[in-house]
Amino acid sequence: MTYPQRYTVTTALPYANGPIHIGHLAGVYVPADIYVRYLRMKNKEVAFIGGSDEHGVPITIQAKLEGVSPQDIVNKYHQIIKKSFKDFGISFDVYSRTSAKIHHETATEFFKTLYDQGEFVEKTIEQLYDAEARMFLADRYVQGRCPKCTYEEAYGDQCENCGSSLSPTELIEPKSVLSGAKPVLRKTKHWYLPLDKYENWLKDWIVKGKKGEWKPNVFGQCSSWINDGLRARAVTRDLDWGVPVPVDGAEGKVLYVWFDAPIGYISATKEMTTDWEKWWKSKDSKLVHFIGKDNIVFHCIIFPSMLKAEGSYILPDNVPANEFMNLEGNKISTSKNWAVWLHEYLKDFPGQQDVLRYVLTSNAPETKDNDFTWKDFQAKNNNELVAILGNFINRVVVLTHKYFDGQVPESDSLKSFKEFHVEEIKDRVDKALDNYKFREGLAEMMTLARAGNKYLADTEPWHLIKTDKKAVATILNNCLQISANLAILMAPFLPYTSQKVFETLNLKKSFLKWDYIGKVDLLEEGQQIIKANLLFTKVEDKEIENQVNKLTSTKNQNQKRETHFPIKEEIEFDDFLKMDIRIVKIIEAEKVPNTDKLLKLKIDLGFEQRTIISGIAHLYKPEEMIGKQASYLANLKARKIKGVESRGMILMIQESDSGLKFLSPDGEAELGSTVG
Ligand code: 2FM
Ligand code: ZN
Repeated sequence: MTYPQRYTVTTALPYANGPIHIGHLAGVYVPADIYVRYLRMKNKEVAFIGGSDEHGVPITIQAKLEGVSPQDIVNKYHQIIKKSFKDFGISFDVYSRTSAKIHHETATEFFKTLYDQGEFVEKTIEQLYDAEARMFLADRYVQGRCPKCTYEEAYGDQCENCGSSLSPTELIEPKSVLSGAKPVLRKTKHWYLPLDKYENWLKDWIVKGKKGEWKPNVFGQCSSWINDGLRARAVTRDLDWGVPVPVDGAEGKVLYVWFDAPIGYISATKEMTTDWEKWWKSKDSKLVHFIGKDNIVFHCIIFPSMLKAEGSYILPDNVPANEFMNLEGNKISTSKNWAVWLHEYLKDFPGQQDVLRYVLTSNAPETKDNDFTWKDFQAKNNNELVAILGNFINRVVVLTHKYFDGQVPESDSLKSFKEFHVEEIKDRVDKALDNYKFREGLAEMMTLARAGNKYLADTEPWHLIKTDKKAVATILNNCLQISANLAILMAPFLPYTSQKVFETLNLKKSFLKWDYIGKVDLLEEGQQIIKANLLFTKVEDKEIENQVNKLTSTKNQNQKRETHFPIKEEIEFDDFLKMDIRIVKIIEAEKVPNTDKLLKLKIDLGFEQRTIISGIAHLYKPEEMIGKQASYLANLKARKIKGVESRGMILMIQESDSGLKFLSPDGEAELGSTVG
């Protein structure tokens, strides 16, 4: 097989409706990052493309849930996602977003080209409509029983239980997610991509052409789709969030998120460079999509059909989709908060990006779903990273300092470096990575660390030093050369650790190239190395317990949050009457010194003024408060807070997520009026 010099590597654009979790990382971003680092080390020209998917129902539903606009949602999560990828070391060349102007322009133009070429079929059809919410129920706005597997909570576009792709009208006993109402049928016009037209071409290209080349899970799913017969798919939706459909008579309609999102890869490339066409239109470029298994049909059938219809683009060479990573025996769920969030991991395990990369890769869901457990995380860290890789390099460095003042000792080739078979290991890693077998590649890399560790244990230089310093010099020279080779070999998998080893061994930066692996003379005799700094540290039981507790408690907390706060214990009417709630106006506000959250407020009840302390300084500036009317519990027993007597309490609306709002009257109300 000959390999091209230029690679366009894309990663599924995550929905900007929540942060990144380990499922995303294991399935898509870690393998893709290993792959591009490997390619760069082989001097290939690479564009590593990422970005946030900011359209579609997942965004509008999250906006409703958080009580803010879709734009607010994508702004918030795009920043969180982008930052966590950067902090984790995912080495994107560009991380864009689909609400960007360049993307709207690119997607609009793409649609128009296909429209002008007559590639779409226009149809007026009956669709589910929520009469209460006055909205068509696209995709995830409707839930019901899956016609294929009877799962009760299948969505209008997909059943997450069996993976079937669905249309809303196929659901049995559908319900509106917005109001719970039973939807009615209503006519609406949409544009369809006639996939049936591409069926024969797809048969040739995938069923005949990619057998044995694409992963069995990907090839199998595609073949069964194609062999079952393809139908036209609507590429527009009745929604007010997305890229507007750029044709007359399409007011209030936007492009289907799965039409615009993959075009996002092209827009992101345009954002990266004006020379974007070479990445997308040159036969010398190899296009590879890293995705999760739920995205297979979109990347292998629909997007390629769009590219083919347009006519000037290259097609994906490979789509190495992974299965799912579960967590402690359960499916990862953003809405149920059953996840290990990347930004939280980075806070809890600072500087330990490589540990997570290692654990997720060694257990990557490449051929079947796998399970992440914190116990396994601890075991892999302590028994493999600390005990094998870290221990080997650390011992070599410490012994070199102890016996040879930190200078690379002379080798008389007592034990030939060749016997470590570094070239063969390199070839096996090569082969694994070229075939998207990242687990295997990582395991091969570790065989070299294991061999080094065993060599040290067998030769026992700490005993031998008493009788044969020359032999120890050779042993340590060999070990140092192995460490240097390891530093290069591990770089795609463990880039932070590789960098540390480079620094410790004083290795030339220019050696960070794949071709140097297997070389015996990466370190010169007499070269000074610096003191060892630990590459990995043990993870203690307590840390693991904390993580497991955090997971279980946030899960419980979130179950409450997700639906509603539970109704409190029943009370008597008289209990209610005991509360004296009044309308007041805030007339003065100032921060309580040396506190983050406390404001001292003076309120006017009409007939008297009072002072209270309120814990809202993190949400409102004092000057924003002046003149606001609010509801106030007037007969709450006075308390001293920070030395100030606080009488009563301003009532706040606690939203399901995190927001707090004033409970204000509808228009101005007379001060002191009662509420009840
Ligand atoms: O499944 C998802 O999370 C989608 N947002 C992936 C989109 S991939 C691409 F097409 F942009
Ligand atoms: Zn199903």
